[in-house]
Amino acid sequence: MCGIVGAFLRGKPCLAALVRGLRVLEYRGYDSVGVGVLQAGELVVRRKAGRIEELERLLAADAGALDEVSVGIGHSRWATHGPPTDENAHPHCDWRGRIALVHNGIIENYQELRAELALRKIPLRSQTDTEVLAHWIGIELEGAGGDLAEAVRRALLRVRGYYAIAVLSGGERPQMVASREGPPLCLASTPEGAWLASDPLALIEHARDIVFLEDGDVAELAPGKLVVRGRDGALVARESVHVAWNAEAADRGGFAHFMLKEIHEQPDVVARGLFGRVDLERGDVTLPGEFFSDASLKQVTRVQISACGTALHAGLVARYLIEGLAGVPVDVDFASEFRYRQPVLVPGTLALGISQSGETADTLAALRLARSLGCRQLSFCNAVGSTMVRESEATLLLEAGPEIGVASTKAFVAMLVAATLFAVRLGRARARLTRAAASELLGELGRMRMNLERLLTREVVDKIRALAERHKDARGFLFLARGINYPIALEGALKLKEISYKHAEGYAAGEMKHGPIAMIDRDMTTVVIASRDSVASKVRSNIEQIRARGGPVICVGDDEESLAVSDERVVVPGLSPWLSPIANVVPLQLFAYHVALARGCDIDKPRNLAKSVTVE
Ligand code: AGP
Repeated sequence: MCGIVGAFLRGKPCLAALVRGLRVLEYRGYDSVGVGVLQAGELVVRRKAGRIEELERLLAADAGALDEVSVGIGHSRWATHGPPTDENAHPHCDWRGRIALVHNGIIENYQELRAELALRKIPLRSQTDTEVLAHWIGIELEGAGGDLAEAVRRALLRVRGYYAIAVLSGGERPQMVASREGPPLCLASTPEGAWLASDPLALIEHARDIVFLEDGDVAELAPGKLVVRGRDGALVARESVHVAWNAEAADRGGFAHFMLKEIHEQPDVVARGLFGRVDLERGDVTLPGEFFSDASLKQVTRVQISACGTALHAGLVARYLIEGLAGVPVDVDFASEFRYRQPVLVPGTLALGISQSGETADTLAALRLARSLGCRQLSFCNAVGSTMVRESEATLLLEAGPEIGVASTKAFVAMLVAATLFAVRLGRARARLTRAAASELLGELGRMRMNLERLLTREVVDKIRALAERHKDARGFLFLARGINYPIALEGALKLKEISYKHAEGYAAGEMKHGPIAMIDRDMTTVVIASRDSVASKVRSNIEQIRARGGPVICVGDDEESLAVSDERVVVPGLSPWLSPIANVVPLQLFAYHVALARGCDIDKPRNLAKSVTVE
């Protein structure tokens, strides 16, 4: 959840690069920010509660005194232990000020270690778990003969929990050391410098060949040097991965917010997700590797999907697609629930993890549990080199490009594309789907780019903005839909609440009369997703029932009769019901964006949230 960076440059100033890296990683947490640098071998720490601007103000007060430093680490925090104060901001130093540490994760046995520190009369200055580890590394430095990498390795043997850390020590032989157990950490080293970060996005301005640390690795970095050892101290080889994303992908490109930019990228995201994967002639999907072959897919008896948040909603759509197009039964679980129950998985169950980041702790744990129970594992994931991609037997990469907005948009659409492709491949492998039916569906998917563009014209966007302004003060919002669009109702509600802080609930429309209808009055806005499908007339009845009770209804979809009986409407191009979720979600994303904008919310950094949830 926190973001960490480090830079060790050959004779060049590093502070600006550290701050730029933190800016790229700010999406991971923005409670406090700090850097620790080496000035003539001495550690200097600057840290502050609040956002990067606070750190910049602190650094400005140094009046250039740190401008020449060439080694440093930095941190942007998503608070877990202790409130977001200056004292709890990272880096944390050991009691003698010999090492500085930044940390993403949780030290679960920190109370136990804290008690031992108390016995040694080592004073604690913060309420964090991180500071405890800093002192522990300081203690081990003695026994390790002053070698920081060895001290870190020894200290971590005492730690239970999950972490990505970067540690700096000064003196005559400055050292920068990194380690991970759980959260991601990537490194690069060239003759000019060495860098580390929680996300390759913060490294690509410096290097493209990136090493992703594995659990238990302890690495020492310096210009032209990258030495990795395992828990036992033995050297381990880690291959680099070439990351092709360009640096522009990490800026807003003229849009007011990353979220808006990412919503507008969706037509291209769909096209990228399909590129090289669709064969209209054969009515099939081409996916590389034995895993996706007919013989392999014929052995799948059931699919168990685990995911969180928006990715879970994509999983719920995937259930309709896989059951409907391939005839394979599907279960979908919150990863956080799946991992702690005792699931009964029949032989032949395929575990499918869905994640934008590939680092969500619960989703990774769910996949590991499924693996331990003998399941094969597939992931739909956006982040190349992520833990999920590396641990899964096969991956369908989402190809959405970096998603920075905390509210996920384009990754969701890419997940729906991936789910459709996989369902078609499975359906074809199992001879459930005919060539002609598959070809027609894939052809329509190919036209999706154009259909999404029609939903992103100035005219449509202005209309949704006006709708949002009219409804922004509603007491609450109900999102209703049925069938394959039911998860889109959940997603519309999630988007709205996470960035505008308005209460919103997604509901299966058929359930309305079993409770939620009691909330309907003129201050409760209902957004109904109405597609021209087999349950369209039933959704239309819901609209009538809400209006009969004085509740305003906004209808989104292509069912003309539903649109006609609603108070306000956003018309979505007519599509096959299987593909309708991809288009229906776009107006809901824009609606959430404009409600949040009209309410003056911080859209790309909503309160209390972080983009990547690498802790439980
Ligand atoms: C999406 O808008 C959310 N911020 C969140 O629910 C997210 O989808 C969830 O945390 C899962 O993340 P992942 O896709 O990276 O696993």
